[in-house]
Amino acid sequence: MIYYFSTTGNSLALARKLAAALGDGICSVTRTREKTLEGPAVGLVFPVYYGDVPANVQDFVRSHAFPEGAYVYALATCGSTWAGPSGPFSSSWEKRAAILPGAGQYRLSPTAPSA
Ligand SMILES: Cc1cc2nc3c(=O)[nH]c(=O)nc-3n(C[C@H](O)[C@H](O)[C@H](O)COP(=O)(O)O)c2cc1C
Repeated sequence: MIYYFSTTGNSLALARKLAAALGDGICSVTRTREKTLEGPAVGLVFPVYYGDVPANVQDFVRSHAFPEGAYVYALATCGSTWAGPSGPFSSSWEKRAAILPGAGQYRLSPTAPSA
């Protein structure tokens, strides 16, 4: 399952594209009621907020159980400036590496070919 957070639609559009490509489903982090996440693969898609993972997504990660052995991955959209080496995946995010062993980073460029 791909869990997403999106306010203006960029991360939702990305989650939808990814779901179509992977044959997976999507679910909003704000509407997920189950405390255990679904799937052999768990995706997280969200915007970068202030160079970090949005607080509600951080809460979501902390408060949900990831299925045993699940492949966990994350994709973040951003406005202009990827936070770089001091960004979400290398600062606060890495502190939760035990929770998200599969987390990585992908830079999305406006000029990148669409998937
Ligand atoms: C409160 C807030 C903080 C943001 N902080 C950053 C930032 O630090 N770096 C950046 O590149 N974009 C930043 N953005 C832009 C969003 O990451 C970008 O527009 C994203 O694609 C929005 O995703 P969404 O349409 O799924 O909500 C910020 C946007 C908001 C609303």
